[in-house]
Amino acid sequence: MQRDLIKNIQARGEEGQAVTVAGWIKTKRESKAFSFIIINDGSSQADLQIIADSGIPGSEDLNQAGTGASIRVEGTLKRSQGKGQSLELVASQIIVLGSADASYPLQKKGHTLEFLREIAHLRGRTNTFGAVYRVRNTLSYLVHRFFQERNFLWAHTPIITANDCEGAGELFQVTTLDLKNMPKNKENGEIDFSQDFFKEKAHLTVSGQLEGEFLALGLGNIYTFGPTFRAENSNTTRHLAEFWMIEPEMAFADLQDDMNLAEDFFRYLCAGVIKENPDEINFLAKHYGESSLENLQKLSQTPFARITYTEAIEELKKSGHKFEFPIDWGTDMQSEHERFLTEKIFKSPVIVTDYPKNIKAFYMKVNSDERTVAAMDVLVPGVGELIGGSQREDRLDILVQRMKEMGIQPEKLEWYLDLRRFGSCPHAGFGLGFERLVQYITGIGNIRDTIPCPRAPGLIGF
Ligand code: 4AD
Ligand code: MG
Repeated sequence: MQRDLIKNIQARGEEGQAVTVAGWIKTKRESKAFSFIIINDGSSQADLQIIADSGIPGSEDLNQAGTGASIRVEGTLKRSQGKGQSLELVASQIIVLGSADASYPLQKKGHTLEFLREIAHLRGRTNTFGAVYRVRNTLSYLVHRFFQERNFLWAHTPIITANDCEGAGELFQVTTLDLKNMPKNKENGEIDFSQDFFKEKAHLTVSGQLEGEFLALGLGNIYTFGPTFRAENSNTTRHLAEFWMIEPEMAFADLQDDMNLAEDFFRYLCAGVIKENPDEINFLAKHYGESSLENLQKLSQTPFARITYTEAIEELKKSGHKFEFPIDWGTDMQSEHERFLTEKIFKSPVIVTDYPKNIKAFYMKVNSDERTVAAMDVLVPGVGELIGGSQREDRLDILVQRMKEMGIQPEKLEWYLDLRRFGSCPHAGFGLGFERLVQYITGIGNIRDTIPCPRAPGLIGF
């Protein structure tokens, strides 16, 4: 079915040009002699008004074609007299492809984001989700372009795995055992996973980092971009149970290189969205007010503030602000602390480095003070933590000691230790949560509105 995209028509169509379009009806107004139909085909924010003379072929079917119906229209373009001088289509033929009646849930009035979440299968037809999904697409493409331009290889790390990279135990188990009749180990009565598909316990990955490390320590620079899963019981506007993560890993790199990469990456993405999706950002700015082209422009040029965890704790204490959770050296920052730093103290993205080793994962390089690790988190206004990364512990003895301290059995990760036995080298990487990025760039308030089918505690449905 050949058709012309409304995006291209509105950008460079000409008066008198013959075109064929297909799309979904947003509104229809009828007079005796004409129908005025506005359609959108998902290619951009732009709609197209169609003027259909009541005598043309197919016009008799228009009475079954209410808001939400799909139609295909052939006709000629005409410059509209009214607002914006956009192009409209004078129809010569209309085919109603799929009718829709008055029970179609997306009638003309605006709907709340909460309501639209209940009809996730239809929300791609709204201006808001059209905009969010198109920005999401642009960001995906820019992620690959950024790394490919810099000679990073896209590596596919596994989705089913036996290791828990973050050690937080927020795992979705994967099993083919019969849940009603689990095989038990005769000696201790525990479930016998040696009879399971993989002959040991398996789950969905929380991060591709550990495999990313072995690929980097052979290929140089790599990145992953794939789904990750966390069974954390967090009902917040920033957590999903299934989210996409981008994890670059660089051989022969330290924490400074890691921070520089994160900053360049973020600025590149902001600049790219300004170029590719100005209409989407303007629409979202008008309706949700959190993001704007000016803001993205500024972000694409401003270096991040950088501060150590120790300094950040001092700043938070000095602020005199009353936090719900008290903050002291050695405790993990809560979202309220992160947001205070980036929104109130710095009013810009900020990188916090050198966290206490006890609150970070086992793989981070221990600093010479032996109390902190070469970690970094990038915090951004409105969202909080967008990126988490570190230089990796590349000394075998210290890594083994850290694993033991954190209750991780070194025997289970012999392959990971091999990387420190044979040609170990300084290396570093980070993980960027893709939906938090989409949330930040679009200014949409809830992470559940950044992905077509959000997964969260108690939420599957689609
Ligand atoms: O800070 P995290 O847990 O770091 C890692 O997984 C490292 N292995 C990354 C690395 O160094 N290669 O997660 C990284 C990012 C967070 O900063 C956040 O943006 C996002 O992933 N994230 C989530 N996004 C949505 N929902 C959740 N439940 C998330 N948990 C983490
Ligand atoms: Mg983190």
